[in-house]
Parts: sequence; C-alpha cells; structure tokens
Amino acid sequence: MATVSVYGAGQLGRGVADILTARGTHTVRGPFGRDERAAALTEGADLVLIATTTRLRDVVDDVRLAVAGGSNVLVSAEESAHPWSVDEEVAERVHREAVAAGVTVVGAGLNPGLVFDALVLTVLGAAPDGVDVTVSRTVDISGFGPTVLGRIGVGVDPEEFTRAVGAGEILGHAGFPQSMAVVGRATGRGVPSIEADLRPLVTERAIALPDGRSVAAGHTAGVEQTYRAVERGHTWYTATFVGHVAPASVGLELADVITLHRGDDAVQELRATPCFPSQAGSQHVLANSVDRVVAAVPGWLTVADLPPASAQGRGPGPTPGWNTNPPRSAGSVTSGTAR
Ligand SMILES: NC(=O)c1ccc[n+]([C@@H]2O[C@H](COP(=O)([O-])OP(=O)(O)OC[C@H]3O[C@@H](n4cnc5c(N)ncnc54)[C@H](OP(=O)(O)O)[C@@H]3O)[C@@H](O)[C@H]2O)c1
Repeated sequence: MATVSVYGAGQLGRGVADILTARGTHTVRGPFGRDERAAALTEGADLVLIATTTRLRDVVDDVRLAVAGGSNVLVSAEESAHPWSVDEEVAERVHREAVAAGVTVVGAGLNPGLVFDALVLTVLGAAPDGVDVTVSRTVDISGFGPTVLGRIGVGVDPEEFTRAVGAGEILGHAGFPQSMAVVGRATGRGVPSIEADLRPLVTERAIALPDGRSVAAGHTAGVEQTYRAVERGHTWYTATFVGHVAPASVGLELADVITLHRGDDAVQELRATPCFPSQAGSQHVLANSVDRVVAAVPGWLTVADLPPASAQGRGPGPTPGWNTNPPRSAGSVTSGTAR
C-alpha cells in the first residue's frame, strides 16, 4: 500500500487526507503543520503532497527536500503547475534533480490542474486544428480560509485593492499563466504572451461568511479576472474567473463553460452547472492524482503528461458536501443585497 505524507494542515491537506483515509487504499501520514516539516518531507513516503501555499518560491525548497528523500511530489501551489512560467532555471534544476532521483513532481488541483487546462485539452481532442478557446469559471469562494481569500483579493477597500495588486500581494486566481502554458505547449502554440486584467467586485452591504467573519460594506467581496493568451496579435485563449463570496446575492450563476470557436463563431460549448466546487473539487483531484503521479516517468511534469485523474469505482462513496458549492447557508447578505 503506497504511503502518502501530507504537508499542510489547511482545508486542502486535511480534505485529501480524509478522502484517502476513508478510501483505505493508501497509508496516510499527517497532515503535518509547519513545525513538523522534516517528518512530512524527509521520511521517504511514496508520495508527498504539499498543500501549503501558492508561489513557486515558497514551495520549491520543500519540493527539493522531498525529492532528495526519494518521494514523488504532488503540489497544490498554483505556480507549480507550470513552474517554467515563473522561473525557468529553478524549474529545470528541480526537474533534473527529480530525474536523477527517479521520482515525479507535478503541480495540480482543480484550477490549475483541470478546468483551465486538462479539461480544455480533453475537449480539444474532438476539435479541428486551429480553434480558439474561451473558458469562464464563476465560483463561490466563501469556503476558503482568510489567507487564500486575502490573496484572491477579498475584504479590502478599492484603494487598498489597487495598491495590493500593484505590490503583487493580491493575485486574484493565481494559475492562469500556468494553465495557458500547459495548453499552449500541448497544442503546439507554445508558451503564450499574456494580457491580464483584474478588477474588484465591491459589495454595498455587509456579507456574513461561513466561518463567522464578514465582508464589510464598501469592501471587495470578489474579483473578476480575465487573461488572454496572444500569438502574433491573435487571441487564441481567453480565460475568465469570477469569484465571489455570495454569488447568488449578485445574480451570478455558478458555472464552468468551455467554448471552442473560430473568431465570433462558436463551434462547441461545454457547460458544467453548477461549477466544479473549489474546495471539494480540488481535494478530489489531488486524492485521485496520487496513483498517476506515482506511476509516471521521473521529472517535473504537467497534467498534460499524465492520464486523467479518476475517481475509484469502489470506495467509501461521497464525502459530505462533495458536490456542494460551499456550505449551502454560506454567504448570506446580512442586510439588503450585495453587488
Ligand atoms: N491548484 C488548485 O486547484 C488549488 C486548489 C485549492 C488550493 N490551492 C492552493 O493550495 C494552497 C493551500 O490551500 P488551502 O485552501 O488548504 O489553504 P489554507 O486552508 O489556508 O491552508 C494552508 C495551510 O498551509 C500552511 N502554510 C502556508 N504557507 C506555508 C508554508 N510556506 N510552509 C508550510 N506551511 C504553510 C498554513 O499554515 P498557517 O495557518 O500557519 O499559515 C495552513 O495550515 C493555497 O495556496 C491555495 O491557493 C490550489
């Protein structure tokens, strides 16, 4: 039975550990917190899951330690889904270390890892050459903890939002360059040049969050973000992420929509309604990725190099709330409506 060591004791690490433990197909160690780093990373598990933070620079030493310990590594950090987009030298160095150690490193989750890349590539499997892609994801983000919500851009006034975006402290969704690079490389379009736009969604009324906190009136309750991948002046991939802590209160429909088109002519549209849920969806993608990462060839790979992640035919069945887009009571507007 493969051993999985989980580093990061937040919602994601705990959720994946619970799924694998309930399934009974893996020996789970952890989830380990910051003060148990050595136990998490160096004890030679078949796979180490690193579910801590977003930036490559903040996880790369952990990845290298786990690789040096002979473990395959699965990382939820958005920037690790295509690390070459962030730091080519570091990505290549760790890739070589993984090859030498005979282990695999993969950055994955729901997004990046499925909606904006693996699923797009699957849909493109039935498409003619040269179609363009638009993906939009509208999601309830109220279930994320304060650190992740702060990084997305929730809970500040518009002036602070502008300052923090400029300072690189607010990122919106962090994985678009990675997803676009994964799709671009797999389709032969190369790593794209990207135009980015991130704007705040400000609430006029206070909104209560599921964990008891609230977003004040006049502060950001979400973001709308659009990235465009451009090749010789032509936009071939447009990705939009709308995340809000009370989407129903502002009339947003939760959905993942992939559209293939030529110019303005839609060729095909694939809709998932409601959208794949952020937290539970990511937990399941990661739990369902353990075996494909352990079985893969050595090196730092992307999801385009792997077979699809898949749920198991047998097992404990759904974990509570597996298909809900956060707690159904979440995101109530405390007075009036939010916009
Ligand atoms: N690819 C995807 O689809 C996907 C999906 C979901 C989440 N993510 C990303 O995965 C990360 C974890 O998500 P989450 O929802 O579990 O977040 P979370 O609930 O905030 O939990 C993160 C945990 O990791 C710890 N941590 C943070 N930075 C660390 C570091 N540098 N070293 C060691 N431990 C650290 C935190 O400890 P403290 O409380 O002490 O800071 C916390 O226990 C986030 O960055 C999130 O953006 C990616």
